[in-house]
Amino acid sequence: QIPPGIRALADYERLAADLMPPASWTYLQDGTGDGLTVAQNRIAFDRIGLLPRILPDLRNATTQLDLFGQRHAAPILLAPVAYQRIAHPDGELATIRAATAMGCGMILSTLASVTLEETAAARAAAAPGLGAPPAALWFQLYMQEGRADTLTLVRRAEAAGYEAVVLTVDASIKRTAFALPPGVEAVNLRGIARPAHTSQVLGPILFGTPLAQTTPRWEDLSWLRGETRLPLLVKGVMAPDDARLAIEHGADGLIVSNHGGRVLDGMPAAIDCLAAIAAIVGERMPILVDGGIRRGTDVVKALALGATAVLLGRPQVHALAVAGVAGVAHALLMLRSELELAMAQLGCTTLADITPDRLTPLR
Ligand code: FNR
Repeated sequence: QIPPGIRALADYERLAADLMPPASWTYLQDGTGDGLTVAQNRIAFDRIGLLPRILPDLRNATTQLDLFGQRHAAPILLAPVAYQRIAHPDGELATIRAATAMGCGMILSTLASVTLEETAAARAAAAPGLGAPPAALWFQLYMQEGRADTLTLVRRAEAAGYEAVVLTVDASIKRTAFALPPGVEAVNLRGIARPAHTSQVLGPILFGTPLAQTTPRWEDLSWLRGETRLPLLVKGVMAPDDARLAIEHGADGLIVSNHGGRVLDGMPAAIDCLAAIAAIVGERMPILVDGGIRRGTDVVKALALGATAVLLGRPQVHALAVAGVAGVAHALLMLRSELELAMAQLGCTTLADITPDRLTPLR
């Protein structure tokens, strides 16, 4: 099922480009504007160098991470990526099965093409891989126009056993011109009268329109905090002052992200915004980061700069398109095995050993 010759995530990307319909491929890959931020997400990682330490004692080495009371096989989770059935008929069901096999967490999008209940059931039915911890399953929330509709989604996620809520705050206003292929839809939003943040086509005018009246504000974060006991992460934090505000408004974790370059072109790489945010947050809460993670060495760089874990976006869909469950599991395995190798060569036996002194600028 896994084609021969795949040695890195980039190989899945190359093969997926030929397999996916052009419109779906463009939707998956493209950033907004001129693609400056998409490019930055990669350039920034490539500028960071690594300084090895020799002769480490690797006898008890591990990539394990405990996060919100749950064990993760590695500090790598699958980012919320909408509409995964554009890549594979099983969509998110295949992705959660792969995550379960690997003991990696998955964040299901509000815009998933499979219901959140079916995804949770697929996790429960899947056999964890040998020695893998039970995979975490978190729900990514887009606030809906009505608070009752938002709460319905949160209550459904709670009832289905999701272990955290990720509130994405950076994409309330986003231009999408992608017409979903037949049979693919945001099934979790069925029954919601006016679903917000789907593929709503934004007209030329934003200010003064109903959309501008209903985009989420800080007070909505405080409200949500009061409505659920699940850990609440805020995804899309880039400015240190917003990190401070998110903490004040009740966040339990932050995700430093520019939404894979899909929202505001000209944003710096997420990895370049991480250290300043980590300096503010300190040890208070986990900080996750995404955007351009493609190698185990990228994971190490992110952790050295203060991340607790990273999220993988587009590559999960590339692997899904090429080889379904096996592909996603293989992609996670490759990334983790690259991470182990990098840690060994850097002389890091636990994630806590991955400190800033392992980094050095590349000229
Ligand atoms: C996304 N992303 C995203 N984020 C989110 O919070 N909810 C969502 O529904 C989606 N949907 C989505 C669709 C597609 C096609 C892409 C590519 C991305 C953003 C995603 O979670 C993550 O932040 C980025 O994808 C990370 O960057 P990389 O790994 O793709 O470079």
